[in-house]
Amino acid sequence: MARIPLIVGNWKMHMTLEETTRFCVSLKQGLAGDPRTSSLVKSGALELAVAPPFISLAASAEALRGSSICVTGQDVFWADTGAYTGEISSLMLRDAGCRFALAGHSERRQYFQETDEEVNRKAAALLRTGLSPIVCVGETLSERQGGAAFQVIEQQVRAGLKGLAMKSPQDLVIAYEPVWAIGTGQTATPEQAEEAQAFIRKLLEEMLPSFAPEMRILYGGSVKPDNISKLMAMPDVDGGLVGGASLDSGSFLEIARGACPRS
Ligand code: PGA
Repeated sequence: MARIPLIVGNWKMHMTLEETTRFCVSLKQGLAGDPRTSSLVKSGALELAVAPPFISLAASAEALRGSSICVTGQDVFWADTGAYTGEISSLMLRDAGCRFALAGHSERRQYFQETDEEVNRKAAALLRTGLSPIVCVGETLSERQGGAAFQVIEQQVRAGLKGLAMKSPQDLVIAYEPVWAIGTGQTATPEQAEEAQAFIRKLLEEMLPSFAPEMRILYGGSVKPDNISKLMAMPDVDGGLVGGASLDSGSFLEIARGACPRS
């Protein structure tokens, strides 16, 4: 089975509730005005998702109802419930209407010292609740320059997916996001993305042989309307995790268009 392209808009810490609703309404309208993309989304041949801040998840799910556009958490805590002030569980994400959640975004690793072990526990919590984790991996500039990129990616993939109980290849998505490409405008070349993502696919073939061919690997890091098609043309790039360019519904939709499977 072919891998269904997936485009996820990671809003990070942007947008008020009012802006969220406005964005969702305008995205829905934009999609309705584009019959080809809209029919691909409706038929499940292209998947779109937005990842707003926690407090806007329920409102986004409500505003996007009927559009087939999914809602995604930007993070999750590994316990289902308990005395963990300030945290949000996978059950709560599901309750708010989420289908996916990010685990181990590089900003969480960098600013909140998230470890591979925590990323693994978060992914396990999501799977337990029926949500699909989007496990983010990727090397920093100094790691790449020091020749350690593939070692870092391998460590993050192996530790992040360790012992996870997946039932189908669609249960989990990997996002390869080289840290040096995030928010910098310096997108990885399609060849660099492919090299890393083919490497990740090889690891998956070893770890999860029956699922690997159908698992989706997204690229993230300065994805824009004008570079998505070239990235998507690579055999192991199955979609995009988009930050800055996802904050405008028009630009997000253009990226979605660029990711459409060719008919
Ligand atoms: P960017 O962010 O598209 O703004 O580079 C990507 C991400 O952090 O997921």
